[in-house]
Amino acid sequence: MTDMGMTTRLPGIKACVFDAYGTLFDFAAAARKCRDVLGEDVDRLTTLWRDKQLQYTWLRAAQGRHADFWQVTGDALNFALETMGIDKPGIRDRLMTLYLTLDPFPEVANVLNRLKAAGIRTAILSNGTPKMLKAAVESANLQSVLDVVLSVEEVGIYKPHPKVYQLAVDRLGTPASTISFQSSNAWDAYAASAFGMRVVWCNRYGQRRERLPGAPDFEVKSLSELPAIVGVP
Ligand code: 2OP
Repeated sequence: MTDMGMTTRLPGIKACVFDAYGTLFDFAAAARKCRDVLGEDVDRLTTLWRDKQLQYTWLRAAQGRHADFWQVTGDALNFALETMGIDKPGIRDRLMTLYLTLDPFPEVANVLNRLKAAGIRTAILSNGTPKMLKAAVESANLQSVLDVVLSVEEVGIYKPHPKVYQLAVDRLGTPASTISFQSSNAWDAYAASAFGMRVVWCNRYGQRRERLPGAPDFEVKSLSELPAIVGVP
């Protein structure tokens, strides 16, 4: 754990809110499960697909031309497959179907259980559509340890627009300062901090610090470090 401020832990946290893709669910799992067809292309496809998916969310937000995350994810996959010249029959549909049931990271269920047992509310706040998030949560059997699942579809614009983080404050009915937001995406973590949430950046991908407004309170490599930060045994 890297303490990016002077605090030893975050006091007064009432809710822990989590980004979904890359934080709770492993978006690399989809292509990994198609290694029989993709071979050595697995990692490059995952990177191209994810980068283009995020770029499309930011560009659509800037243009005010929203399309939901299922469409954006499919458009980004089409871009990545064409870029790499992958046209194996059925691979696109197979990858998209796998994207609905991505593996959770190994520590997720235990961490959510411990937070809930300590009386801290838990939520997802994600670009994903309600259908995508429901499928991912049910596939990972996390329904009983998540109080609220929030999709940007409720506000019609993608992260990092402040309206998205405001949605979590409104639905949880607690001030931003009592919410600890967790994301593996540095840009998302910084935006939540600039909005006024406390932030634990789960830097799974070894990203560098952003030169953006805001600053996460902590940087960790796994969510297993979160309970101690919010004062949960
Ligand atoms: C999210 O789940 C895309 O990881 C981002 O909102």
